[in-house]
Amino acid sequence: MTNRARVAVVGATGAVGSVTLALLRERGYGDVRAFASARSAGANLDGLTVEEATPDALGAGDLDLCLFSVGTSASRELVPVAAAGGALCIDKSSAFRLESGVPLVVPEVNGDRVHENAGIVANPNCCSIPLSIALAPLRDTAGLRRVRVATYQSVSGAGASAMDRLRGESVEEHDLRMDWDFDGVEFDEEATDVLGEAEGVRLVGFPSPLEAAGLDDVLVGRIRTDETVENGLALFLACDNLRKGAALNAIQIAELALRERSVAQG
Ligand SMILES: NC(=O)c1ccc[n+]([C@@H]2O[C@H](COP(=O)([O-])OP(=O)(O)OC[C@H]3O[C@@H](n4cnc5c(N)ncnc54)[C@H](OP(=O)(O)O)[C@@H]3O)[C@@H](O)[C@H]2O)c1
Repeated sequence: MTNRARVAVVGATGAVGSVTLALLRERGYGDVRAFASARSAGANLDGLTVEEATPDALGAGDLDLCLFSVGTSASRELVPVAAAGGALCIDKSSAFRLESGVPLVVPEVNGDRVHENAGIVANPNCCSIPLSIALAPLRDTAGLRRVRVATYQSVSGAGASAMDRLRGESVEEHDLRMDWDFDGVEFDEEATDVLGEAEGVRLVGFPSPLEAAGLDDVLVGRIRTDETVENGLALFLACDNLRKGAALNAIQIAELALRERSVAQG
C-alpha cells in the first residue's frame, strides 16, 4: 500500500540520506522529494531530481514530514523553518538533542515521549541508539547503577566520502575478530533470557559489524558475568549505523509521531 505522507529527505545525497530513500521506498512511501545543498541541485537520484534545501522550499507548507541528515549547522538553519511550515521534522544531527521541548527518541525505549514534540524530534547519536535498546530491558528487569562503554565508531559515521575511501580496502581486514576463546561457565542466563525477549534485539554468538550490516536489529552476544564488579555483566553489541543508528530509527519515530498527529486530528 502506498503511504501518502508528503516526505522530504534533506541530505538525500549523503550516507544516511541514501539509506533513508531506500527504506522509504521499501515501506511504500510514494510522495518523496530529495533535497541537498546547492552543489547537488538538479542531480538525478534514482529517478528523483535533487532540489536545493533552502528555507523557502522547506518552509512552503507543502510537506508533512522532513527527515534531516545534513549536519548540525545546516540543521540549525533549516529545521525550525520546516517545522514552522507545518512539517514534522526528525533531525539526526546534534543540533536539537539537548533542547527542551524536543524529545530525543528511540521508539523501543521511550516511544511514548514522541507526543511531547512541537514539530521537532531529535534522533540520538548512532552509538546511543543500539546501546539504549540493549540496556533498557536490563534496567527494567534488574536496575542499572553504572555502565562502562567502549565504542568502535563506524567509518560511515564520517559520511559518504569516508565510505568511498573504505570501499577500496579489504572487508576481511576491517571486520571485528575475536582472538580469544569464549567458553566455560561464565554465561549470564538471566540477562540472556531478558535480551532474548527484547524488542529490536537479536541474540547471536558473536556480533560483528559485517554480520550487522543491512539488518534492522541490534546484534547482542557474548553475554557473560563480569566478575570484576558486584552483579556485573559484560556483553558485545553491533548495529548497522546507517539503518537503526540513523535512517531507520528516524523513520520509526516519524511513523509513531504521524500516527499520533492523525489520531489527535481525529
Ligand atoms: N553516517 C552515520 O552513520 C550517521 C549516523 C547518525 C547520524 N548521522 C548524522 O547525519 C548527518 C549527515 O551524515 P551523513 O553521514 O549522511 O553525511 P554525508 O554523507 O556527508 O552527507 C551530508 C548530506 O548533507 C547535505 N548537506 C551538507 N550541507 C548542506 C547544507 N548546507 N544544506 C543542505 N544540505 C547540505 C549534503 O549535500 P551535498 O551532497 O549537496 O553536499 C549531503 O546530502 C550528520 O549530522 C551526522 O552526524 C550520521
